[in-house]
Amino acid sequence: MSVVSTVGLIGAGAIGRAHLNGAAQAAGIKIVGIADPNPAAAQLANEFGLPHFTDHRTLRDTLQPDGAIIATPNALHVPMALEWLAEGRPVLVEKPVAGTVEEGRQLAHAADAAKVPVLVGHHRRHNPILRKARELVREGALGRLVSASVLATFLKPDAYFEQAWRRSNGGGPVLINLIHEIDLVRFVCGEIRSLQALTSNAIREFEVEDSAAALLRLDNNALVTITLSDTAASPWSWDLASGENPAFSRSQAESHFLCGTNASLALPTLRTWRYPGERGWFQPLEPGSIAFQPADPYIEQMRHFGAVIRREEAPLTDALDATRTLEVTLAVRQAAQSGTMVYF
Ligand SMILES: NC(=O)c1ccc[n+]([C@@H]2O[C@H](COP(=O)([O-])OP(=O)(O)OC[C@H]3O[C@@H](n4cnc5c(N)ncnc54)[C@H](O)[C@@H]3O)[C@@H](O)[C@H]2O)c1
Repeated sequence: MSVVSTVGLIGAGAIGRAHLNGAAQAAGIKIVGIADPNPAAAQLANEFGLPHFTDHRTLRDTLQPDGAIIATPNALHVPMALEWLAEGRPVLVEKPVAGTVEEGRQLAHAADAAKVPVLVGHHRRHNPILRKARELVREGALGRLVSASVLATFLKPDAYFEQAWRRSNGGGPVLINLIHEIDLVRFVCGEIRSLQALTSNAIREFEVEDSAAALLRLDNNALVTITLSDTAASPWSWDLASGENPAFSRSQAESHFLCGTNASLALPTLRTWRYPGERGWFQPLEPGSIAFQPADPYIEQMRHFGAVIRREEAPLTDALDATRTLEVTLAVRQAAQSGTMVYF
């Protein structure tokens, strides 16, 4: 296999374009064609000078790429991934890895059995800010982790809801947005042991929720709250604050607050707070900052996928890991509906 791995892009919508841009700047990977029945995809293929196919099997049989990026609607993730695995070709599957936990596990088993890697597109894990935060928590730089407060509050424009599926069950911010926060908490703070949740549709009055609040206990006993809303005129979200997606107007705010027994950490700024001398609330806390090398997580994810295809690196998020994130995310709606605590 050459040092540049070739991949087909299946599904050239919003995130497909991000992958095209990411791959264009990443070493060791090259998108060689696009498969998407939408006529707009033909235009996009033209823009990037790539051959266009309406069907992913035709792309595969014609171009014989080393792997594929599956950036189609959720229901197609697992069926398409299984077909590529059966051909011995690694895949990057967008999040959520599957529609159900059972389906996610089925994909993980298939990848194991075929000995072909699956990478799931939890792109935030490729952001150096979150890698640094994870390192700080793991090495005990904050002391024992006590709590984390996560704000994922933003305003989706009215036009976003013109598509009916976004107003109906499954199309709301829990499955679309909260899944990123659940994955971030697992990656940075630790595994989730139990949760309670409330959801609300009081503002938009659609069938689907517009807001949610989740309360988590982690295996390390830290307590985490996540406040989520797609109807709040607010700068406090990773999406707006991190600058990861240039389509959003950057807020310069902070969205994640981790508290430890020795120090606290805010994200995405990596700003710390600690007592320089005597500890306690009568003493002044000193702000500090953690140095890091910024990088675009979409480019880094593409570089990593190339290395995964060549078996130089193991997937940072494999199908089983992503299924765990899906399981916890689905449990948020379950807990809210039943009014009971969910244990994992
Ligand atoms: N990682 C992230 O931050 C992130 C962000 C957005 C979306 N996503 C995920 O990516 C996936 C796509 O989301 P999107 O916002 O790009 O949606 P989108 O609707 O903009 O794009 C989906 C594309 O898939 C195409 N498609 C549908 N059926 C197909 C088929 N049989 N073969 C090939 N192409 C087909 C559609 O024509 C469309 O162009 C979803 O699973 C979503 O959850 C991830």
